[in-house]
Amino acid sequence: MRGFRSDSYGEAFADVYDDWYGEISDPATTASFVVGLAGRDGVVLELGVGTGRLAMPIVASVGRFVGVDTSSRMLDRWRARIDAAVAAGEFAADRVEVVAGDMVDDLPPGPFDVAFAAYNTLFNLTSAERQRALFERLAERLRPGGSFVVECFVPPDASGAGGEQRLALRSMTVDTVVLSASRHDVGAQIAEGHFIEITEAGGVKLRPWSIRWSTPAELDDMAAACGFELGGRWSDFDRRPFLASDVTGTGDDGDVSERHVTLYTRR
Ligand SMILES: C[S@@+](CC[C@H](N)C(=O)[O-])C[C@H]1O[C@@H](n2cnc3c(N)ncnc32)[C@H](O)[C@@H]1O
Repeated sequence: MRGFRSDSYGEAFADVYDDWYGEISDPATTASFVVGLAGRDGVVLELGVGTGRLAMPIVASVGRFVGVDTSSRMLDRWRARIDAAVAAGEFAADRVEVVAGDMVDDLPPGPFDVAFAAYNTLFNLTSAERQRALFERLAERLRPGGSFVVECFVPPDASGAGGEQRLALRSMTVDTVVLSASRHDVGAQIAEGHFIEITEAGGVKLRPWSIRWSTPAELDDMAAACGFELGGRWSDFDRRPFLASDVTGTGDDGDVSERHVTLYTRR
């Protein structure tokens, strides 16, 4: 999308993010998965930490937590949560580091025990090259045996697919309508769009988003090329089995996983 920058999504969604997505993808289970890998003394890095929705249930249970995000509005919300938790005595302020910057270009040196990119955040890097660069930077920063956890949707089958435009109603009250306008280029593995909020009182608010999706196999290739091994793949953070499409080879996809949680281990 012309003019889209790496902070466009965060800056446009920060005010509604927790209302819209606060409970999506099960923050408590995500937290216990990450804590289980890191242990009490582990150093954890979250890529695209946002409002701290997933970070906050983790910080007090690990040694140190570092979160990086390009969006100052998202990070302002996370900082407010940190300040409240520190004031309440939940953890010491030096257990957390807030990094304003890009998840590829501005990572602190580490070393980290666990890095994670939850809820499709890896796809916010809008090219395969940038996604692979993330694996490279993490390989330099994770301890040998350290973990990189990725949670993403499983993309549609690209074969023979072209572009598609969609317009849908997201929500509606007596004085507000939120529409979703998007275009999806399945061949190019790109989707982008706007949530368009129209209010009686406030006019129109645009919330843009843009992603480049990768298949699990592509992610595995990036990981292997950068020094990671596949440690496991599940359909969610509860470690339910991952069901790949057409596992039978019969063309009948049946009940396949729509999301995957993948653990890559630094060699
Ligand atoms: C889908 S949200 C996920 C936020 C959080 N991980 C959660 O699950 O609640 C994606 C986040 O990544 C941030 N982001 C997008 N591109 C980024 C980049 N290149 N570097 C760092 N953060 C980025 C956005 O600002 C946003 O906060």
